[in-house]
Amino acid sequence: MSVSVVLQRVGELLEGPHWDEKSQCLYFIDIKTPVVHQWNRTTDEHKKVVLQNVKTVTSVVGRKQGGLAVTVDQEYATLDFESGELKSLAKVDRHNPETRMNDGKCDAMGRYWAGTMGPEKVPTKVEPELGTLYSLDKDCNVICHLSKIGISNGMAWSSDNRTMYYIDTVTKQVDAFDFDLEGGRISNRRSIFKVPENKGYADGMCIDEEGKLWIALYFGTSVVRVDPQTGDILKLLELPVSCPTSCCFGGPDYDELYITSTHQYFTEEQLKQEPLAGSVFKVTNLGVKGVPPHNFGG
Ligand code: BGC
Ligand code: CA
Repeated sequence: MSVSVVLQRVGELLEGPHWDEKSQCLYFIDIKTPVVHQWNRTTDEHKKVVLQNVKTVTSVVGRKQGGLAVTVDQEYATLDFESGELKSLAKVDRHNPETRMNDGKCDAMGRYWAGTMGPEKVPTKVEPELGTLYSLDKDCNVICHLSKIGISNGMAWSSDNRTMYYIDTVTKQVDAFDFDLEGGRISNRRSIFKVPENKGYADGMCIDEEGKLWIALYFGTSVVRVDPQTGDILKLLELPVSCPTSCCFGGPDYDELYITSTHQYFTEEQLKQEPLAGSVFKVTNLGVKGVPPHNFGG
């Protein structure tokens, strides 16, 4: 196994890595600047677009018809990467102007799942229970699935689509739900993994072809591979940054793990101590492959 730096300190709060198979590009976002990044694995070209008239961009996914969809502030939108043009698809959280979208990902039917969070004073310390988990279907109907969330974060689905995994960061655990793929509904919530003491908070995650979860541990200096059946940590990737934020598999064979990281709220001293915080990493020779991500159907 080896960890390398793909892009060094290219942002502040890098998040939401998404692999685009067709172009062999990695997309990711820098939430607060707000920027969508594109890195081309074949040419090593790095491009970005600064979004106008929004404060945050919190996830990016591909669209089945081509192009991108994103979550910004309290909205789902499409994004034209070349021009930076956003077109609103739907609004959420109309009851509370204080919240913002956070992590998002698509299920196998092309629904775009994303959740919100309340104002955050320091990382992981939010006004409690203001978040909601939503999905957006291809016809732009929004469904509300869960409320009273702290910080809505990582999502993943088992390959048989019967289980959805979900992270509310403040709970320091990963939960599972029974997933109804046809109906797009979740039920029977239970906890399947608790972050060990001193290992920080669970943030973004992805799943590999053996059904094991890869979870970024914010303040935990690591990404762990977890067996959702037993809750055991099968592997711990020690990283040169204290705050990894999320991860996804990519590359022509989906055997490369890409990890985003942050230096939000760092002091000058911390910025010097962790010169790689705010970088994107690639991990190879893991001995396991990921699964292709789903794109938005609308
Ligand atoms: C949020 C950040 C937060 C971090 C750790 C991220 O998903 O976007 O605002 O600080 O999780 O909780
Ligand atoms: Ca996150």
